[in-house]
Amino acid sequence: AEGYFTFDPGFTSTAACESQITFIDGANGVLLHRGYPIEQLAEHSDYLETCYLLLYGELPTAEQKTEFVRTVHQHTMVHEQIRTFFNGFRRDAHPMAIMCGVVGALSAFYHDSTDISDQNHRTVAAYRLIAKMPTIAAMSYKFSIGQPFMYPDNSLDYSANFLHMMFGNPCEPSNISPVIARAMDKIFLLHADHEQNASTSTVRLAGSSQANPFACIAAGIAALWGPSHGGANEAVVKMLEEIGDVSNIDEYIARAKDKDDPFRLMGFGHRVYKNFDPRAKVMKQAADEVLAELGINDPMLDIAKRLEEIALEDAYFVDKKLYPNVDFYSGIILKALGIPTTMFTVIFAVGRTVGWIAHWNEMISGSYRIGRPRQLYTGYSERDFVTIDKR
Ligand code: SDX
Repeated sequence: AEGYFTFDPGFTSTAACESQITFIDGANGVLLHRGYPIEQLAEHSDYLETCYLLLYGELPTAEQKTEFVRTVHQHTMVHEQIRTFFNGFRRDAHPMAIMCGVVGALSAFYHDSTDISDQNHRTVAAYRLIAKMPTIAAMSYKFSIGQPFMYPDNSLDYSANFLHMMFGNPCEPSNISPVIARAMDKIFLLHADHEQNASTSTVRLAGSSQANPFACIAAGIAALWGPSHGGANEAVVKMLEEIGDVSNIDEYIARAKDKDDPFRLMGFGHRVYKNFDPRAKVMKQAADEVLAELGINDPMLDIAKRLEEIALEDAYFVDKKLYPNVDFYSGIILKALGIPTTMFTVIFAVGRTVGWIAHWNEMISGSYRIGRPRQLYTGYSERDFVTIDKR
């Protein structure tokens, strides 16, 4: 339109940040955490050990791991007044809405870990967040079903403790299946970090202004919530439920290819991977194993596998290099573990907290400047004010 700027299409931005935490080769489907392939970590490590790796850069010795776990256990409870904070929410509030609010509220409680110029403060903030996220997540679920909050039981390992707080109740002893706890731990591990994704970039941008670390993580939770990002696992299960039967798959494939239809194949495609997301392969194998070990025959898994087969043979998906991502199978496992759909993205947030914190600490510990993305202005050129009688 008249007066709009035109701009040089040759304008390029090389804005990128340096990091030593995670490497992704999107063309070849490679994901390394501090140099270790995600497939090997998923097979041989556990979530807290991977947290240590992401935070400190090396796998821990047995003594280091014992001390790390002990320190995390010191922070699994939340301030008792946080419990009253929940009373401000509607019972039917989405747990991700509650997570945004409650994690942000931690910045009003823990002043002794917010002097970000002090590495000890940053370390305590990191331990507090890793330790308290499962507690807050379980509280958001208990609140939504009107059951009493469960205190953490530090005699249990990280993931079993989370399941204890999710599904335990004060009237009976917890009976956490080792199969389910191990699968839960693998889910947290596979979500731990993923380089400069939208939510991690949000945390880094918020952190670059030297904002309170708990508030920065709350910003990451908000960014993760969207169905294009962490909300996709919940959207995948809703999509598979809507498809309902393998006979309906072709209709949904056609819709996903239709430019005029906003429907996207949830759990497919990625900003970086133009090959299989290596986490999706591990997740698919875990889905088979968990359902078999639990004796569950979920037709949704059959629909997902058939959908994957059809899509990977379809020229649209092949040409656009659209492959299953981390979210495609995770929802099926979470459903088998008894996790309600509304908690799927919360689980993603619990797992990703260590990645957010590792990137935040890496930036804050080094030399950094406040983030300030630039723009390509395409609005009006300068013009004089027009009084209302002349408009
Ligand atoms: C996560 O960044 C990260 O690392 C994120 C994450 C992490 O660990 O933090 O890996 C987690 O967020 C995984 C992504 C979860 N989201 C979904 O599964 C939602 C469904 N996926 C799409 O919304 C999409 O693939 C995105 C959002 C993931 C990526 O979108 P882009 O950047 O537009 O993808 P693209 O550039 O590769 O798209 C190429 C083409 C486009 O069409 P054209 O403009 O070329 O005609 O493929 C189309 C897209 O419209 N396309 C799809 C599609 N994904 C992309 N068409 C149908 N179904 C899809 N799922």
